[in-house]
Amino acid sequence: MVIAIDGPAASGKGTLARRLARHLGRPHLDTGLLYRAVARDMLDREEPLSDAALAARAAAALDTARLDDPRLRSREMGEAASIVSTFAAVRETLLGFQRRFARQEGGAVLDGRDIGTVVCPDADLKLYVTASPEERARRRQRELAQTGEPSDFETVLADIRRRDARDQGRPNAPLRMAEDAVLLDTTALDADAAFAEALRIVRTRLDV
Ligand code: CDP
Ligand code: CDP
Repeated sequence: MVIAIDGPAASGKGTLARRLARHLGRPHLDTGLLYRAVARDMLDREEPLSDAALAARAAAALDTARLDDPRLRSREMGEAASIVSTFAAVRETLLGFQRRFARQEGGAVLDGRDIGTVVCPDADLKLYVTASPEERARRRQRELAQTGEPSDFETVLADIRRRDARDQGRPNAPLRMAEDAVLLDTTALDADAAFAEALRIVRTRLDV
């Protein structure tokens, strides 16, 4: 059983994917961490993120066992990830790992931008999680304040809008809702309510 969860930055897809996976007893992969880790490795070597050939090499050499590095969670790394993720060769290289993860026995829950459209087009259930840019900026701002990286609302909102434009506008695997995905708008839902709604959808669609 494969559950694919996609959506824009700070829509709550990661939190939801983690909770669903725990509830269903399945492994979870936050695929954004792969792109963040490619960016981290390049930044560590002081390589320009805009160099497609170097980015492809970094993706090919990626150590997928090191995805628990706390540095990957920073705002800088999210922004850097959205640059390296535009390159087709990077995406192609990371595809194999993601598909093997999804195909493991018993299935898995994956979240990202292109899980339902590219990585797992045959997923048993696809959720497209979204929320208004303002609500997503409020969530991100709250998180940044908690991690000691405070930022004003307008800056965070501009970051969110720039990331949306880059993720939706790129030619390779742009962020978009798969035709057979179920839309979950969490603008007016807190994390608990979003989880309850997702669970209702899962139970309606899947035999769990
Ligand atoms: O993975 P993604 O960037 O889509 O978002 P996240 O990291 O799961 O969630 C961003 C923040 O929004 C977290 O602090 C969540 O607790 C909070 N949140 C949520 O996940 N879901 C809601 N419906 C409301 C808030
Ligand atoms: O948590 P948040 O949504 O801010 O970021 P993330 O899911 O960790 O993804 C960081 C960046 O990686 C995104 O802005 C995308 O450009 C890229 N990404 C992607 O292209 N495809 C994926 N399946 C996951 C992430």
